Amino acid sequence: TMTDVRELLLSRIRDVPDYPEPGVMFKDITPLLADPAAFVALTDALSEITVRHGATKVVGLEARGFILGAPVAVRAGLGFVPVRKAGKLPGATLGQSYDLEYGSAEIEVHAEDLSEGDRVMIIDDVLATGGTAEASLQLIRRAGAEVAGVAILMELGFLGGRARLEPTLAGAPLEAL
Ligand code: PRP
Repeated sequence: TMTDVRELLLSRIRDVPDYPEPGVMFKDITPLLADPAAFVALTDALSEITVRHGATKVVGLEARGFILGAPVAVRAGLGFVPVRKAGKLPGATLGQSYDLEYGSAEIEVHAEDLSEGDRVMIIDDVLATGGTAEASLQLIRRAGAEVAGVAILMELGFLGGRARLEPTLAGAPLEAL
């Protein structure tokens, strides 16, 4: 059942206190990735969401969204498009900057990878403040594509990412396992 899957996934996520800085509890997914049963269960659950919402393309957010998004795309029979930190893609890109607690960051996508008629599912490991997902939603729409939804492994509810994303989602689903 889905409850069993959630328990399995949760049991393979390691809490690392004070990483990368004091006061932060880091959610380490490497034990989950190293466990084939858990990794397959995660891939299946995320691709079920992707297919259920009628996505035609998978976008993964660097870096852990690549590890999760690529097998989801293969399982769902869809293409995979990486959204990268600025400066890593060689072709013509669309960029979107977003605010961090201190300073700002920028992500990019190859413009030719997304176009009108695409329905995109965004895949990532963690929704924290929602800044990365929000910028990705904006990027996908600016490329002319439609948003099928956002599917993530875990949502850190106390950071308010879901509320921040609501206007940008504009009715598209946000599903956290
Ligand atoms: C983490 C995580 C998400 C993002 C969530 O990635 O994998 O992509 O932060 O945070 P937000 O909701 O506050 O935007 P990170 O920026 O650490 O990149 P990495 O996976 O390349 O280390």
